[in-house]
Formats: sequence, structure tokens, C-alpha cells
Amino acid sequence: SKTTVTLSNGAEMPIVGLGTWRAQPEEIENAVQAALESGYRHIDTAFNYNTEEYIGNVLSKWIELGKIKREELFITTKLPNFGNRPQDVDKFLKLSLERLKLDYVDLYLIHMPFSFHCNDAGNAPLKNEDGSFSLDTENNILETWKELEGQVKNGLTKAIGLSNFNSEQVQRIHKAAEIKPVVNQVELHAYLQQKELREACKILDVAVTAFSPLGSPGANTHFQNKYNYSLNDFPDILGHPVVKELSEKYKKLPAQILLKHLIQQDVIVIPKSSNPERIKANIDLFDFELSPDDLEKLNALDKNEDGRIFDFMFFKGVEKHPEYPFKARLK
Ligand code: A2P
Repeated sequence: SKTTVTLSNGAEMPIVGLGTWRAQPEEIENAVQAALESGYRHIDTAFNYNTEEYIGNVLSKWIELGKIKREELFITTKLPNFGNRPQDVDKFLKLSLERLKLDYVDLYLIHMPFSFHCNDAGNAPLKNEDGSFSLDTENNILETWKELEGQVKNGLTKAIGLSNFNSEQVQRIHKAAEIKPVVNQVELHAYLQQKELREACKILDVAVTAFSPLGSPGANTHFQNKYNYSLNDFPDILGHPVVKELSEKYKKLPAQILLKHLIQQDVIVIPKSSNPERIKANIDLFDFELSPDDLEKLNALDKNEDGRIFDFMFFKGVEKHPEYPFKARLK
């Protein structure tokens, strides 16, 4: 299958990228180094992940040593949702570029469709006294989008897109946009296959990037530590009998089966790993093809909304925001 997806702006986006959400600062430089050595050219980050600086350290070294050219890389970062106001965009994009030590990114995403107020330091969401997040329900995201368009014209990003938007929210931006969103990045894996959203995006020529393509094993600890929040029913997709069976049949790791299932359907994947062997394995996907029957077997694992892991309820009070994207969860 193909190694890139052609975006609506004509750019080629590598279909496998390194995810860096929840990566620890001390492990991230090694992970990026291992990824570049394994042939990754696509790295996904966000202002919010606190990994940009470490990614930038490795990228700038590789560029300086002439081991890689900037134009060979595809770097995505994201506007934090406490910076969703139009006047915030320029500041946050420039901060990200500074940390990444780059003149431009390839893709800049609005991280979340719902906006939080910002704290006084300007670097984290504002919280109310009861620990809930301070919701900004006045912000007009279409105005924010215009600012993102301005950054394409300024040359600070090659393309712009969305993350965690539902189909209706994607359609609203797309309709109003002068420069169209090229990507919507969402949670997507065998238990949450996002059929309806993928169809809606396809019609608009918006590519879909899957975060947590392996179902984020191990994420529970992170959430307990960071938000004192426990995610129930944490799935073991890698251990599902069908995945195991196909792993034996194709002599590929369970993770490789899950990733192939997505890329064979033109879904971009950004598996996170800090382990050099797993990093290498997660891009070693181009010497086999799943048969149509086996793709169907994996399609049948879909649990729709019940398969969603990250409903953002760890942001206490978020479900009251009018732009909370997963209303179906609340019923
Ligand atoms: P590690 O960083 O120790 O490799 P997701 O991308 O769905 O969020 O999943 C990330 C989680 O999956 C991380 O905890 C990562 O652990 C683990 N992981 C990444 N690649 C593999 C793999 N090939 N096999 C098993 N687990 C993996």
C-alpha cells in the first residue's frame, strides 16, 4: 500500500508518523532519533504535549549535520484549546516554532473544537474553584480559522487542519473556509472506527489521522497521575483473538496488524512509542497486504461510540460546552 496520502493542498503526508502524546521528556529525544533512523519523516506533536522542544533538538541536529533536509520532514503541531481565540493564534504558533527550532510547520491543527479560558501565565487552561475547567463559550472558531489561514499566507505553516472535531464541526469550518482544512485528527482504532466521520471527511477531501491507533495501552497510568482520573474498561485491542489470529497468519506483530488495517484504508496513523524496537516495527508495514476478508474481520471489531477511550471527561465540566464534540456519549 501507499506510503503517503496526498492532501488537498497537494502535499504528500507520510501515512505513518511518530506520535508523541504522553511521551516523557527524558525519553522523547531517543524516540525521535530512533524514528528518524527507522525512516520516519513525519512527527506529530502539540503545544500541549511539552515535547516540541525535545523534538526540535533532534531535528535541528539532523538538519545541521546534513543527515536530513527540512523539506523531507512533515511536522504537525497544534494550537492549544486555551489559545483558541483569534488573537492567540500568532503567539502560540510562534512559540511552537521556537520550541521546534523550525521556520514553518507542515500542518497546524486546532487541537480541540471547544475553547477554555487561559490562565494568567498564558500557558495552561484556567480552572474554576471547584476544579472544573473555565469554559469559553463566546469564542467564534470561524474567526480563529481565518487567523490560521493568515498563517498559511505568512508561510508559518504549509497547511491547516482540525483535531477532535465531529463531522458537523468539520463541515461548518469547511463551508466557511477560504483555505480548506486538509486533515481532521481523531481517536481511531479497531474499536472506534469512525465510519460516519470518515465518510463525511472523504466527501470534503479532508484526510483523517488516527491518534491512539493501538488503543493507547498504558494510558491509564498517565491519566491517573495527571488528572487523577480513571478511564474505565481500558481495552486490550492488541490482545483481541482476531488480532492475534491475524498476527500469526501474516507473521506480523499485533500492532502491525492494527496499523495496517488503518493505512490500507488511507487512514494516517501516529502510533506513540518510546521503544526503538517498537518504533521500527510500527513503520515496517509495507511488505504485506491484508486480504479483503481479513480487513472485514477487523472491521467487525468496531464498537462505535462504546469503543471511545478519550471522551475528554477528564476536563471536568467540558460536557457543558456547546461545542463538546461527543454528545452521543452523554445519552
Ligand atoms: P511504548 O512507548 O513503551 O512502546 P497509541 O499510539 O495507541 O496511543 O499506543 C501507545 C502505547 O502503545 C504506548 O504505551 C506504547 O508503549 C505502546 N506500543 C507502541 N508500539 C507498540 C507495539 N508495536 N506493540 C505493543 N505496544 C506498543
